[in-house]
Amino acid sequence: MSDTQTSSREEMLTLIRQLNDYSYAYHVKDEPLVPDAEYDRCYRALQAIEAQHPEWVQADSPTQRVGEKPDNGFASVEHTVPMLSLDNAFDNDSMVDFDERVQKLSQAAVLTYCCEPKLDGLAISLRYEDGLLVRGVTRGDGLVGEDITSNIKTIYSVPMRLRTETPPPVLEVRGEIYMPKEGFEKLNQQAAEKGEKTFVNPRNAAAGSLRQLDPKITASRPLVLCAYSIGYVEGWQQPDSHYEGLLQLSEWGFKINQLMQRVEGIQGCLDYYDKVAAERDGLSYDIDGIVYKVDSIAQQKQLGFVARAPRWAIARKFPAQEEVTQILGVDFQVGRTGAITPVARLQPTFVGGVTVSNATLHNQDEIERLGVKVKDWVMIRRAGDVIPQVVQVLTERRPEDATEVVFPVQCPVCESDIERVEGEAVQRCTGGLVCGAQLKERLKHFVSRKAMDIDGLGDKLIEQLVDAKLLNTPVDIYRLKEKPARLLAMERMGDKSVEKLLNAIEASKQTLFNRFVYALGIREVGEATARTVTQYFGTLDALMNATQEELIEVEDVGPIVAQHIRLFFEQEDNVATVHGLLEQGVHWQMAESSEDSGERPLEGKTYVVTGTLSRYSRDEVKDHLIKLGAKVSGSVSGKTDCLVAGEKAGSKLTKAQSLEVPVMDEEALHEMLTGFGVV
Ligand code: IVH
Repeated sequence: MSDTQTSSREEMLTLIRQLNDYSYAYHVKDEPLVPDAEYDRCYRALQAIEAQHPEWVQADSPTQRVGEKPDNGFASVEHTVPMLSLDNAFDNDSMVDFDERVQKLSQAAVLTYCCEPKLDGLAISLRYEDGLLVRGVTRGDGLVGEDITSNIKTIYSVPMRLRTETPPPVLEVRGEIYMPKEGFEKLNQQAAEKGEKTFVNPRNAAAGSLRQLDPKITASRPLVLCAYSIGYVEGWQQPDSHYEGLLQLSEWGFKINQLMQRVEGIQGCLDYYDKVAAERDGLSYDIDGIVYKVDSIAQQKQLGFVARAPRWAIARKFPAQEEVTQILGVDFQVGRTGAITPVARLQPTFVGGVTVSNATLHNQDEIERLGVKVKDWVMIRRAGDVIPQVVQVLTERRPEDATEVVFPVQCPVCESDIERVEGEAVQRCTGGLVCGAQLKERLKHFVSRKAMDIDGLGDKLIEQLVDAKLLNTPVDIYRLKEKPARLLAMERMGDKSVEKLLNAIEASKQTLFNRFVYALGIREVGEATARTVTQYFGTLDALMNATQEELIEVEDVGPIVAQHIRLFFEQEDNVATVHGLLEQGVHWQMAESSEDSGERPLEGKTYVVTGTLSRYSRDEVKDHLIKLGAKVSGSVSGKTDCLVAGEKAGSKLTKAQSLEVPVMDEEALHEMLTGFGVV
């Protein structure tokens, strides 16, 4: 080989090492080392060398992750060691029984358990020979699975080579392949936009993705591998505890679950369950329970197996997030902007920890996509605090008297016509504020916490006040003080509550420009857009008179948002409402004459706020930053000057780190705000 060849071969090997390091940092450690552009640059450099010298291509090169379709589908492979399943426990009593049984059998006073979240995906067994990934096999029936190596390789958190110079000659790692919630939502959104079938849950999406014959499709799906045990090993002495085994896997380059923990005895297990159950909804991936494993490998061996499950482990399941129930009817609700939402009335069922009797059907397209009829049996899903969704129709259980869902042509509340704008999925009532339903929703929005923040004016009271014709526009809220007797006549309103309500209404008059604009309920103008446009235009007059072209100049404002803002201020009733509110004394401090000192030390800086803060609410922080002249944006980009990250900051923090955007924690923020004298 010539000198230049040697050097480019070395360059290639260096690039492979670098790229694998970058990808390990990004996909396994969640701590990106370099911006995406740098990764791409190295990747292209590697591709160029490999194209010139195909004979040099290495098995662990990242270019080898996406290969061709296997010729004869997925071959069957017998597992070296069977892949077992787990016994389930559904309550604390069964856990206590399990612990007692294990104690008795192992003659141990107190057992140490390794606790891990039960990831909701698919089990996989990965075989490494001399450190190199040679095969990935599904669980199958536990004895024989399918060889899906070509698909497994496309998953970046699966190491192509173990990160050690001295790998065991043979190692089989077991773990779960899953799809994080965010990736699942995106995938389903894309599918729905194309009118394609969506996946019921992240687990099905992961399964469907792994079953693809074309690895290119699998590669486009956001899958992750988390290792949870060593299945088989040759030529290497395993540590005597499961926990240490997992730490070893982590050192070799596998992702292991961050929440795994060793605990003592049954009390440790029960406490761990409570802790993780409380965190469940906030996790970036689905879990369906906790797996408890006796930590000592010697004790595991002593305990052995019954049938297909080990005696030394158990899965304590969480309440199910999916349930099958029947649709009794479909109602049509009218929202703030007149959008008509079909809502399925369900045979009440316990799911996701609560009794659910309604689930949204979103819009007509969704009804058609699901092919749902009244009286159908459906699978509903309620994960976290998200509104329950109908995810699947069980067509095989369709009763004979099932009927089509008929979308109304007139508003069920005000009987105005319903229209569907070309290219939009939503249908809307054209009644505007004539429609009682729209008026109620608009008022609820107006008084909400992030808008005018009027405490004591709850949904029920607004509904009563609209029905009593006391509220016809938001301006009427500020006229309520003229009619205390009418207020007293409302349900559950006494002298005290009326007084409190009137005080809250009075206090809300002093507000912020962005809150006011958000409160107006302009279509497509959420909290973040309200902030950007108010900052940009500075005064209400400037905003109200802004042309479409001027509006588009604002960052994050596209033609649709601009058009909605224009349309809003072109309507006479809206202008009258705005003026009416100002006449009633609603006011705010103008940006130019900043409240305290007139100083705007953060002028020109863009901040993003994420995570949970303990001292302030996120809204308070945003208000403070704006007062200091900063722009507050909803997403991290190259233009972000600083990310304020509270506890459990997720993808925004990762992104900021990868873009090398400065990050400030709550303490630093507090110091800064104190320094500027705003708190
Ligand atoms: S250990 C003998 N640990 O749960 C031990 N399993 O029925 C076998 N699972 O399909 C499994 N997270 O894929 C183990 N941390 C975890 C797990 C886990 C999810 C799945 C596994 C299997 C099922 C067990």
